[in-house]
Amino acid sequence: MHIVRTVQAMRHEHEQWTGSVGFVPTMGYLHEGHLSLVRQARLENEHVVVSIFINPTQFGPQEDLGSYPRNIEHDLQLLSALGVDVVFLPAVAEMYPSGFTTYVNPEGALAEQGEGALRPGHFRGVATVVLKLFLIVQPQRIYFGQKDAQQVAVINRMISDLNLPLTLRVLSTIRESDGLAMSSRNSYLDNEERARATVVYRALKAAQMAVEFQQQTNIQKIIQAVQKVVNNEAGVQLDYIDLRDPTTFLPLETLKAPALLLIAVRVGTTRLIDNFVLHAD
Ligand code: PAJ
Repeated sequence: MHIVRTVQAMRHEHEQWTGSVGFVPTMGYLHEGHLSLVRQARLENEHVVVSIFINPTQFGPQEDLGSYPRNIEHDLQLLSALGVDVVFLPAVAEMYPSGFTTYVNPEGALAEQGEGALRPGHFRGVATVVLKLFLIVQPQRIYFGQKDAQQVAVINRMISDLNLPLTLRVLSTIRESDGLAMSSRNSYLDNEERARATVVYRALKAAQMAVEFQQQTNIQKIIQAVQKVVNNEAGVQLDYIDLRDPTTFLPLETLKAPALLLIAVRVGTTRLIDNFVLHAD
């Protein structure tokens, strides 16, 4: 496994290759969610590149850029065991040299509602770094997790709007045995908060039950079912609970399948997001 730290060295790796390249962009502190993407990339491509880059432009000024968890040595061990060809670890100074001016700016509901409303500029940072990484790594296939449903929708739209010659593969959310979606940020939770955090999955399950087993089609009632579960858990604040169209991210007025049920909460100071795709018929 080659560890590559500059754009020039990454391009040099690419020049040696003839077959397809699968690419998994990450911010590191890897868990089974990330590794599921890497395994799939390994199955489908001759060459696999994983990037680890904590991208400063997608963090707001009050967010956790400084404390974002990292453990490069451990990450490299995990990736080496999966047979990754190249780990790309660019420096902030090369990705964003002084005078950097050119951003990809997704607009409209897709980037400005949901996470975009609470994290202004977040998807601008994501789209910008992801496009830069695509141009540096030049993959044929890229791998993203459904865990970050809005990120997937933004990237999908960018691929189509900018005619990027890429296939986007979206893989299911990997969960702990009690349902909590795996996330690097789960490491912020202390034991008590970790126990409370299961409320996210329980709330999504309550909504899924209402829709798929009780044939509930009233959106307000579905949302109330989620709110009830979250409000019963002390120390958990609900940021939003929304039913949206998975592609446009516009709020749904009537339930139609597939509907994306999105939830964001704060447990102490830790933000957690999750989602279910509801298949009402
Ligand atoms: P990061 O949070 O490290 O996630 C990297 C990839 O892993 C994303 O596609 C994310 O959706 C996926 N992922 C995270 N948790 C997952 C889980 N429990 N199950 C399945 N997939 C999961 O997302 C980012 O980094 C950044 O925004 C990035 C795209 C790298 C741009 O900086």
